[in-house]
Amino acid sequence: MHNATGSMKTMKLYDQVERIYNELLALGIDEEAPLSVEDLTPFDQYHYHGTEAVDYAAGKLDARDGTHLLEVGSGIGGPARHMAASTNCRITALELQPDLNETARGLTARCGLDTNISHLNGDVLDGGMVGKDFDGLMSFLVFLHIPDRTNLLKVCHGALKPSGNVFIEDITKLREPTTAQWSDLREKVLCSYLPTLDEYVAQLEAAGFVDVEAEDMSASWNAFTSERFAAFQERRPRNIEIHGEAVTDGLEDFYGTVSGLYDEGVLGGIRIWGRKP
Ligand SMILES: C[S@@+](CC[C@H](N)C(=O)[O-])C[C@H]1O[C@@H](n2cnc3c(N)ncnc32)[C@H](O)[C@@H]1O
Repeated sequence: MHNATGSMKTMKLYDQVERIYNELLALGIDEEAPLSVEDLTPFDQYHYHGTEAVDYAAGKLDARDGTHLLEVGSGIGGPARHMAASTNCRITALELQPDLNETARGLTARCGLDTNISHLNGDVLDGGMVGKDFDGLMSFLVFLHIPDRTNLLKVCHGALKPSGNVFIEDITKLREPTTAQWSDLREKVLCSYLPTLDEYVAQLEAAGFVDVEAEDMSASWNAFTSERFAAFQERRPRNIEIHGEAVTDGLEDFYGTVSGLYDEGVLGGIRIWGRKP
């Protein structure tokens, strides 16, 4: 079972996503103005290492003009826009939360990328993407929200054409969380299932993917999340001025909780890729 969208706002990254307009206004860009993808990338990548991670995925997916990708869990559209702008590929961007999807659609149109990217609101587990013969599938920090990996991977496999590529970034378990850590994971990160790296690889293979390879991102993501938390705290007065105290407190708590889970040796991370035979 995935989380119902109504309950997803306990994860503060997903609360008041329209805060991106506050960031743009602070740069002097009003709500109707055309945008470049680069205007948005400091604020629209809801995963680690921003566009660098998307460029890495582009290489593994062999994304180029003519490639049609499915993005599972596209958030407010950051990875899809960078991928489309840098490779001229086509992307079907599937997002569960309607407010994030609508924000994504509006920003993509303002970037003039709506011929490359179709934003769809829906749950990947519904299976609507099965049989669509995508050339590749990418997903950044989404699977952590979906404990039913058997069905999830079946749907992902079914969405690809033969020889289609898959690229996933996700968190992994380094050490069994304590009860208190599980409570933070469930409530603030919306994560109720954590595989190890080896289990992740085995699950992709069991779903029928071949040439599966994984890179352990644990140390890199630990450093990234620490720096993100420190930078956010340092800018607290500016963040309150732009977003208000409630949004600032919520994000600070989220960034701090996640950074703590990496520091405590519970969370690790993975980049994993392979292909459908
Ligand atoms: C951490 S965000 C990452 C967003 C985007 N991949 C990025 O990197 O900017 C995870 C996203 O996955 C979406 N999601 C979670 N479960 C989903 C599901 N079952 N189907 C589609 N999207 C889902 C969430 O709503 C959320 O927007």
